Amino acid sequence: MCGIVGVLGNHEVAPLIVEALKRLEYRGYDSAGIATVNRGRLDRRRAVGKLVNLSDLLVHEPLAGKSGIGHTRWATHGAATTVNAHPHRSGPVAVVHNGIIENFRELREEVTAAGLTPESQTDTETVALVLRMFMDRGLSPVDAARETLTRLHGAFALCFLFDGEEDLMIAARKGSPLAIGHGEGEMFVGSDAIALAPMTDRITYLEEGDWAVITRAGAQIYDAAGRLANRAETRIQIDATRIEKGGYKHFMAKEIAEQPVVIADALKHYVQDGAPNLPAEVDFTGVDRLTLVACGTASYACLVAKYWFEQIAGLPCEVDIASEFRYREPPLSDRSWALFVSQSGETADTLAALRYASGKVAKVVSVVNVPTSSIARESDLALPILAGVEVGVASTKAFTCQLTVLALLALKAALDRGRLAPADLAAHLGALAALPGLMNHTLGLSGDIAALASDLAKAQDILFLGRGSMYPLALEGALKLKEISYIHAEGYASGELKHGPIALIDAQVPVIVLAPRDALFEKTVSNMQEVMARHGKVLLISDAQGVAEAGKGCWKTLTLPACDSAFAPILYSVPAQLLAYHTAIAKGTDVDQPRNLAKSVTVE
Ligand code: F6R
Repeated sequence: MCGIVGVLGNHEVAPLIVEALKRLEYRGYDSAGIATVNRGRLDRRRAVGKLVNLSDLLVHEPLAGKSGIGHTRWATHGAATTVNAHPHRSGPVAVVHNGIIENFRELREEVTAAGLTPESQTDTETVALVLRMFMDRGLSPVDAARETLTRLHGAFALCFLFDGEEDLMIAARKGSPLAIGHGEGEMFVGSDAIALAPMTDRITYLEEGDWAVITRAGAQIYDAAGRLANRAETRIQIDATRIEKGGYKHFMAKEIAEQPVVIADALKHYVQDGAPNLPAEVDFTGVDRLTLVACGTASYACLVAKYWFEQIAGLPCEVDIASEFRYREPPLSDRSWALFVSQSGETADTLAALRYASGKVAKVVSVVNVPTSSIARESDLALPILAGVEVGVASTKAFTCQLTVLALLALKAALDRGRLAPADLAAHLGALAALPGLMNHTLGLSGDIAALASDLAKAQDILFLGRGSMYPLALEGALKLKEISYIHAEGYASGELKHGPIALIDAQVPVIVLAPRDALFEKTVSNMQEVMARHGKVLLISDAQGVAEAGKGCWKTLTLPACDSAFAPILYSVPAQLLAYHTAIAKGTDVDQPRNLAKSVTVE
């Protein structure tokens, strides 16, 4: 959600902080701000809207100083206004925060009783007020911070800066990720290592409950019990140049186009000598059930994978959305595995679900894009999807790479469970290997899809239909479209249509049918006919055979190359993504940073 940066530098820090915030803007972009200490004096600048507004403000009202903190916000408490933007300040202390302080109302009453007046509607400002209250009582910044942290409930990553202290930052982590970066006589704090990549590759990750007193000489880290903790410094590999648009108009367009390459990379990594090449711990012998947990797009990847695990490997499988999982208190067996899928690896609900499952199942496995993320670090085994950095808020290449890794896991499960003959394994691997080429071909349909999208952009509601493993893809197509074009869209299993949603059909509602010519095709076509009988506008997305058999009477058709039906959801993701992208372009919305959303959802 919100992005945090802190720098104790040797040069002016405002430009460095703004640069780092740019790399964190995916976390939230409704307001931004920075605070610095210059000649002992704490000062700040804040601006509503995208980071560029803060940069503009800094041109007119520069902020000097070699120590500073910065923030890009995704509002939780209080609207996106300047007064609610971070850093929040009270007297000698400024703070930036990611997360939610759950007991902020009680704390607010306490500080008000102590004579302090909140200015904003945020939970975060209360943290600054509490710390100031302790400093007013004579505590040093470090002691006041220690005292303050014991009073906070909820999830937070925090970074404090103090008036009169040019060489001090205090950082804390509970529930929200935070990394400390080490430079030569400089120190950094960031919500993730990507933000710090241009400044340092030497990173120490704070663990749950840790807090750190940071000076230019280094960081003293304390654990939740207040003991001095020794946390390892690691060197991370982040190619800073990869976070560029590379000639594309949007990150999303670039990331859609990258899919043939990243999927080929993932296959190269996870397939060797005609077999899945997974770590030795991936042995499904004796595993009697799989629980897959994730949020949003990642949860749709899990739903697709359920078809694979059950049909190919005969392994019973359930899929939960992470925000419901632990509250449902599902019984888990020690013969089952739990699998958590997350692009960012920091999604708060998925992480909490993982913690619920830990110790209750035989193995906690994660499928992540960020191998240094909290979810990866807290799993028994983390499998990277190798999609490369995904910047566009709408997940595209991470989804298809998640599907690719999940498909290989399903094949491995089938092998371990004696369900896959060598010829069938070869056929499945051949089908996966063909995908990058087929995706390339499908990307060539972008112009046709743009033409369709200019009509779709006029719609108020759009339905997506699919059957079998194309049903979760219908859900994903609808999610992608609504999140970036703001058109109301729903995905349905085509067989469900007549149980309610068919009431929505009229000549204005486009119905997008995702239907490769597979064993279920005729059934889907019957459902499509039901739509057309009610003057519904059907866009049929199929292969040449499917379009030839059922394209007549459709409003539009789109012909994809024929592919193996098992892994068709991977290929059909591409037109679903391109339809959302081009519809958003036709509507003129902000494709990479759609309203109200953030890339990494680190609050419940
Ligand atoms: C939609 C999208 C989200 C994420 C969800 C989970 O395009 O990107 O629905 O899939 O917020 O995020 P991760 O995968 O980071 O756990």
